[in-house]
Amino acid sequence: MADPDLAAPSPDWTIDQGWENYTAEEHGVWKTLYERQIKLLENRACDEFVAGMHALPMGPDEIPNFKKLSEVLMKKTGWQVVAVPGLVPDDVFFEHLANRRFPSGNFIRKPHELDYLEEPDVFHDVFGHVPMLMNPVFADYIQAYGVGGLKAQKLGMLKQLARVYWYTVEFGLVRQRNGLRIYGAGIASSYTESLFCTDDPSPNRIRFELERVMRTNYRIDDFQEVYFVLDNLEALLELDRIDFAPIYERIKAQPELQPWDVAPEDEVLHRGTGVYHDAKR
Ligand SMILES: [Fe+2]
Repeated sequence: MADPDLAAPSPDWTIDQGWENYTAEEHGVWKTLYERQIKLLENRACDEFVAGMHALPMGPDEIPNFKKLSEVLMKKTGWQVVAVPGLVPDDVFFEHLANRRFPSGNFIRKPHELDYLEEPDVFHDVFGHVPMLMNPVFADYIQAYGVGGLKAQKLGMLKQLARVYWYTVEFGLVRQRNGLRIYGAGIASSYTESLFCTDDPSPNRIRFELERVMRTNYRIDDFQEVYFVLDNLEALLELDRIDFAPIYERIKAQPELQPWDVAPEDEVLHRGTGVYHDAKR
């Protein structure tokens, strides 16, 4: 594939996916990741993720074509997938989401990096994120997040808002009839964290509460020490309607929380043993 560093980004940073340029080895990496993960997620991802996955033109044999994904997404929820060379500036990212365009890295990790990722690649972005964009509630929520991001930037509250994205869109869990289920893409695209988040006794699992989440730092270098759990995905609809400005004012006066903290007002669903992260400290 062409070296993305050589390409000058367009104002919105989008590039052509260059689907026809993927090599057999790159499709092979997708296949390895896809087959390993799809088995795991049938019984671990939330119903909406599984339904979205089944309805999309996405399978084991090749890296999905963004144009074909977008055709199906557009009909269902008005979203499309656009290719970008990697991480993009915050304002560009929010502008895309606010207009129902999901920016996805067009490259795929190397065969020796299956469980290691410096920047989100096509497996994380497409396998992890796109199935949930088929769900109307979630589709509206991510658009609202984009609009909220542009506002939060002006208010200097981006760090607080980004935590909401992190603990929902990337690392969210939801309670469903058959137990805790994954909807966050950071988990859904990770073999090891898919097991850790639901099965391991180490992390805390705490009922999602917006202001609590906005005050909580997160780790980017390892499994999460805390997962916030929604009662149902419809709870995200309420977040769409909230004016965040007064909330930002309120939390400015409150202390930040660390990933391992449990606050007195938390509704703790599972008090973690902390064994996994304590061993590394
Ligand atoms: Fe992501």
